[in-house]
Amino acid sequence: MTIRLSSIQKIYKVGVERVHALRGVDLSISKGEFVAIMGSSGSGKSTLMNILGCLDRPSKGEYVLNGKPVAKMGAAALAEVRNQEIGFVFQSFELLPRSTALQNVMLPLIYSPKRWMGARKRARGALDRVGLGERVKHRPNQLSGGQRQRVAIARALVNEPSILLADEPTGNLDSKTSEEIIALFKQLHADGQTIVIVTHEEDIAGHAERIVRLKDGRVMSDRKTTEDPIHREYLDRMAVAAADMAKHDAVSAASNGAPLAVAPEVRGHGEAKVTVATTAAPQPVGAKTGNTGGAA
Ligand SMILES: Nc1ncnc2c1ncn2[C@@H]1O[C@H](COP(=O)(O)OP(=O)(O)OP(=O)(O)O)[C@@H](O)[C@H]1O
Ligand SMILES: [Mg+2]
Repeated sequence: MTIRLSSIQKIYKVGVERVHALRGVDLSISKGEFVAIMGSSGSGKSTLMNILGCLDRPSKGEYVLNGKPVAKMGAAALAEVRNQEIGFVFQSFELLPRSTALQNVMLPLIYSPKRWMGARKRARGALDRVGLGERVKHRPNQLSGGQRQRVAIARALVNEPSILLADEPTGNLDSKTSEEIIALFKQLHADGQTIVIVTHEEDIAGHAERIVRLKDGRVMSDRKTTEDPIHREYLDRMAVAAADMAKHDAVSAASNGAPLAVAPEVRGHGEAKVTVATTAAPQPVGAKTGNTGGAA
């Protein structure tokens, strides 16, 4: 067992006000799992990630990480655990702007006297692993967004953490680059890395094995991705949209030749596009859960 959270609560105090960000979260994550955490804005995802990543402590509850109870550790001990066990990737990369890719990746090794010997070689190895072996001397502003995130992932991996945590790692990337980054996570997972990512995007979450959904600081559902009704409904919607798109393409192709009996809602190109877009648009979550049987 890698991670066990029991009855975790987090209360933030802002002036006289108290914000109850987590209201009793139970969560276990085993070695080698790939988990996606989802939930609307403010549901507590980042709060949970910060606790998982030992960046912050819970107000109440137990957290056992690789056999160590970390919930009540002092700041120095917590930093030590963080350095040894955790790799963290952020939406905004958080790279040092004036340092090269190699220097950025070497940074976590500074705190590890054992590993500072050979740090350069280790960092190069991590950059190779994320496909950036050719960019070691580039500074962040000389790299694309996807490459910056790869540097951040290499930095997270350089200490060989038992868990890789990523809070919206594709939030600042276009969809093609997001796919590349998620493919990298899948590769790392295939190599045995335990991974937890936060995402707002159902298609990104679909690459994980398990989806944990938060709502108002509580776990609303925790299922295998293939058994998650919301995800299955999303896949059904995508399949319908793809079929509509294919129908539209067939109609367009045919209308270039002989006229064809066209479905009433698909009269012209412009209207047909609207039809497809409407079908693909997200529907309210949980509006209907009955037709999930045909999901891939
Ligand atoms: N440092 C803080 N001080 C006070 N309140 C906070 C702090 N961080 C988060 N909160 C509050 O805790 C709740 C959960 O915030 P959190 O950042 O965990 O949400 P989230 O699910 O990550 O949202 P998003 O999808 O927008 O990133 C919110 O109501 C937020 O306002
Ligand atoms: Mg967040």
